[in-house]
Amino acid sequence: MAKNLCNSPTPLFALILPMLLLNYPLSSNAFSIGVNYGALADNLPPPAQVAAFLKDRTFIDRVKLFDSNPDMIRAFAGTGIALIITAANSDIPSLSRLPGATSWVANNISPFYPATNISLIAVGNEILATADRNLIAHLVPALRSLSAALSAAGFHQIRVSTPHSLGILSASEPPSSGRFRRGYDRVIFAPMLDFHRKSKTPFVVNPYPYFGYSSRTLNYALFKPNPGFFDPVTRINYTNMFDAQMDAVFSAMSRLGYGDVQIAVGESGWPSAGDPGQVGINVEDAASYNGQLIQHVTSGKGTPLMPNRTFETYVFSLFNEDLKPGPTAERNFGLFRPDFSPVYDVGVLRGGSQFWSLYAALKNGNVNGMTNDKRCQGGGPTPAPTAASKWCVAAGGATEAALQANIDYACSTAGVDCRPIQAGGPCFDPNTAQAHANYAMNAYYQFAGRHVFNCDFGRTGVIVTKNPSEYFRAF
Ligand SMILES: *[C@@H]1O[C@H](CO)[C@@H](O)[C@H](O)[C@H]1NC(C)=O
Ligand SMILES: *[C@@H]1O[C@H](CO)[C@@H](O)[C@H](O)[C@H]1NC(C)=O
Ligand SMILES: *[C@@H]1O[C@H](CO)[C@@H](O)[C@H](O)[C@H]1NC(C)=O
Repeated sequence: MAKNLCNSPTPLFALILPMLLLNYPLSSNAFSIGVNYGALADNLPPPAQVAAFLKDRTFIDRVKLFDSNPDMIRAFAGTGIALIITAANSDIPSLSRLPGATSWVANNISPFYPATNISLIAVGNEILATADRNLIAHLVPALRSLSAALSAAGFHQIRVSTPHSLGILSASEPPSSGRFRRGYDRVIFAPMLDFHRKSKTPFVVNPYPYFGYSSRTLNYALFKPNPGFFDPVTRINYTNMFDAQMDAVFSAMSRLGYGDVQIAVGESGWPSAGDPGQVGINVEDAASYNGQLIQHVTSGKGTPLMPNRTFETYVFSLFNEDLKPGPTAERNFGLFRPDFSPVYDVGVLRGGSQFWSLYAALKNGNVNGMTNDKRCQGGGPTPAPTAASKWCVAAGGATEAALQANIDYACSTAGVDCRPIQAGGPCFDPNTAQAHANYAMNAYYQFAGRHVFNCDFGRTGVIVTKNPSEYFRAF
């Protein structure tokens, strides 16, 4: 990971001083985590920016698309990011015959592969839940013929599957009772699981404790401490709902004799905002669920019935999507806002959260350097024009009281000139504690000799190596 950091082509990231990295070491395990890149929004950045952002500034190395939009597929070329693309539900009948599958591959895969690392084709989305008999009847044949068409084209690495909601189960509590809906079990799921076993591809499910919790089971759904749920058949005490849902799927598969088939998590997530009065919908709970989910599925711990398994997992979702219909929560599943600022940090950010709070502070214009007055640029006095110019600025997230204490400390030091941030001074606006602290802390740092400890300020200072006003031009 350190290697990736140093090789990062983005000037933005290269600006951050080693100090920041030393204080906030990156996690050492090489985990693999995916996100769903939904685009029901009118304010999202262009796909090429999204792909560059994911590659350069996050550890996210897998992306799932809900369609086969060529602009999006092309945007991920050369990134190495593994892509799931989705064939439209309406394409399933034609995909169930080889000529249709062959031409779908020629149109949707051949132009982009292998430049774009397409790793799996999802055939439709939650087809059993549509209750459309025509689509359901053609689903397994479509998996088979698409797989054959990919092989014929020489694309042996590309897997084929189809994501399911947990509505495919007629029983799921306790987990040992898990079974597929009668009528679909032998006719649809047995041949489908046989396809997955033979092709070594995952059975993809979308477990959402969010859609299953009550006020009584909120902590159980959120991976927080709770009394647990006891399964009397297996004598297993379940401590989180995600494990229970996964094991219910496993039980259903085992009942048909396919417990060995891999399972992947196509979607799971938790919204960070909802309608007034909704319990358990806030930033802390979303961060808790998604953070623990990522840790859990990548830990190698598995579930009680599937010990030691890891699950290829795609968090729902990358962005808050403003055009999604339904309750407020539907538009707030994103890890990021459309301007790339994180809604919360679940450990997928390169550089740690301090970088991102600094980013937020600067992006919000809370630095004097955002004004055009040269005297204010960089949040105050300019360092000597040496090769190693450094500025000291206030980290985002510092309390107003801490910032005011920093201002008072810096400005009471003989030799530090704080007149520019006083009323009438050129750097008075914006008149915020953050902006004034940026000025005063940097003025002190430059005056005191630019040692690392001159910018400590009780760990509310951050040294940057480029004029902060130039930081976020790229955005
Ligand atoms: C494609 O993605 C897979 C899964 O993350 C990864 O193992 C592989 O190295 C990637 N391929 C390329 C060419 O980057
Ligand atoms: C299940 O586990 C929880 C949490 O560890 C514990 O508090 C509870 O007593 C356990 N219940 C049973 C029936 O073992
Ligand atoms: C899981 O891993 C642990 C620790 O490595 C090992 O003791 C255990 O036998 C494994 N269980 C299975 C079912 O592979």
